[in-house]
Order: sequence, then C-alpha cells, then structure tokens
Amino acid sequence: MNGLATTYMGLSLENPLVVAASSISAHIDLIKLAEDVGAGALVIRSLFEEQIQLDQQHFEDMLMYGSDSFAEATTLFPKVKHGGPREHLMWVERSRKAVRMPLIASLNAVSPGAWTHYARQLAETGVDGLEINYYVVAADPQRTGSDIERALYEVVESVVSEVTIPVSVKLSPFYTSTANVVHELEKRGAKAVVLFNRFLQPDIAPDLESLTHEMVFSTQSEMKLPLRWIALLYGRTTMDLALSTGAHTGKDVIKALLAGATVVQTAAALLQNGVPYLSTMLFHLHTWMAEKGYDSLDDFRGKMSQKHCDDPFAFERVQYVRLILEQV
Ligand SMILES: Cc1cc2nc3c(=O)[nH]c(=O)nc-3n(C[C@H](O)[C@H](O)[C@H](O)COP(=O)(O)O)c2cc1C
Repeated sequence: MNGLATTYMGLSLENPLVVAASSISAHIDLIKLAEDVGAGALVIRSLFEEQIQLDQQHFEDMLMYGSDSFAEATTLFPKVKHGGPREHLMWVERSRKAVRMPLIASLNAVSPGAWTHYARQLAETGVDGLEINYYVVAADPQRTGSDIERALYEVVESVVSEVTIPVSVKLSPFYTSTANVVHELEKRGAKAVVLFNRFLQPDIAPDLESLTHEMVFSTQSEMKLPLRWIALLYGRTTMDLALSTGAHTGKDVIKALLAGATVVQTAAALLQNGVPYLSTMLFHLHTWMAEKGYDSLDDFRGKMSQKHCDDPFAFERVQYVRLILEQV
C-alpha cells in the first residue's frame, strides 16, 4: 500500500504497524506470516535479565557442584519459561534469516550490570535495532525515584555504548516526570521511546487464599494513557515515539498517528484475532487516508498532538476539572 512508509529509529519501514515483543516471535512461521501480511517491523520477545543471571548461575553451580550456596538466587527466579541466553541468541539469528522486514531485539532489564554485553551479542545476530524494556516495580521504600531513574540511564548508556544499531527504550508509565525521563533518554543516545510497557498484575483467589498469575490481554480503553503521552511529547523530542498498549483496531492506529506516534506496536490484537488481522488494521488505515485525501503519514501525523490541536489544555488538567464539575 502506498503512502504508509515511515522511518523508525532511522530504519525504513513499509508501514507504521509493528508487531510488539510477544509470543508471536516464538514461532518462525508466525514471524514469516507477520511479514507476509504486511508488518512494518517486528520486535522479538525479550531476552530477560533473569535468563542471563540464571545462565551465569548455572555456570557457577557447575563450578561449585555439591554446594547449596546458590539456592537463594535460584528461588528468586524460579520459573523462567524461556531457555538461556545462548538459546535466545540462536533464536534471534534464526528469526533474522527467516524474514527481510526490520527486526528489533529486546532486552528486559531490572538493574544495570555486566549483562548488557548481551546487547552486543544481540546486535551481532544482524537485527536492525534493540529495544530495552526497563522493568522496575518501585516497592523498596529506601529507593527514591531518582535512584530508579539513574539506574535506567545507566542501563541505557551502557547498551548504547555496546552497539552501533539504534536503541529504543520501552518505558513504564509510572515515572513522576515522564517528559523529563524522555528528555534524559534522548541526551543519552536513545533513538525512540515505546510508551508504554504493560505490567502483568498478579491477582488473588480468595477461596484458595493464593496468588494467581493469568495472562490478561489489554483492552482498547488502555490506549488512552499512551495516547495522551504521545500527544504531549510529539514535537518536544527528536526521538521517535512508538505507541504500545491497547491498539486493537485500524481506528486505534489512526488515533495514535494523529496524536503523533511514529509507529504503533500491537500484540494482544494479533494474539486474539490471529496475525493476518494485521492486514485488516492496515487496510482501515489506508482506506481512511484515501477518504481524507492524505497521501502520506506526514500529512496528518501529530495533527491532534498537544502542539497542534485546537484545545491544547485537553491533554492536561483543565479538561479533567471541567468534566468533574459538569457531573455535579
Ligand atoms: C504473550 C505476551 C508476551 C509478551 N512478551 C513480551 C516480551 O518478551 N517483552 C516485552 O517487552 N513485552 C512483552 N509483552 C508486552 C507487549 O509487547 C506489549 O507491550 C503489551 O502486550 C501491550 O500491548 P498490546 O495492548 O498491543 O498487547 C508481551 C505481551 C504478551 C501478551
């Protein structure tokens, strides 16, 4: 389809629909299918820091065979379903050979450390970009917001220094000053931010008095949070903006682009409807552009961002106050 081409982190994409890091990339046939039905790019599921730590642990366990001194560490990371980092690297290499579309590898980090060397090894598989998912639940009362941000910057700086391919950062929505964090990431050489990571929350089964961990997919209403932040950040950073969470339809993709997204990442919609559904989303985008007389994404991208829309206060507090008062 014409007019849908875009660049993202300096990469050329045929369109702005990116398959988000997910179990889709755990199957080569699905990666190929995603390319066949028109995905602009695909993010391969993450290499988790815990996988790397477990691998190092395994190595040390072998050296210390017979000792139980590592019991604590293995219970900390008990159920990592993926294989170790070597298996993951081989998988990324296999994926790279299977398709031509841009592929982005993902590192899922919780702390700065020597493991960032794996960033280089991921880059050496031939992927086109690297996404860092910095996943911290700020539950330690001794750890300040600045401590967490510093750790994030340290991770990003060390990954950026390890690789020559472009690096993006998938952020959680829980920073006090998202705009400032984005600004700091830009200074450290990140080429894009992905807004936002979606946390899987544990639940409680009252009858069993136990925790449950269920994979619950996003809903469309969850898109409003990243939509607002994309709209607020558009034109205020030189980095590209990827929307993630809640984009389930072609209409959602259009909304994200109007807010200022460079690309839209999607996982749940494809896991629920099947990967070919991506072509339906693209078709809706294309049809809408034709109806509106837009020849390219640049004709309307960011048109509804805070910078360009008629009511810039709508994205901040005023609209909230107005709506609440109207309910009285
Ligand atoms: C089954 C599944 C696996 C996922 N695996 C990863 C992963 O490995 N790394 C990551 O950064 N995000 C992962 N995610 C999160 C998605 O990339 C995405 O951010 C999230 O699902 C929200 O987008 P959506 O509303 O389009 O699903 C996963 C999501 C799902 C549903």
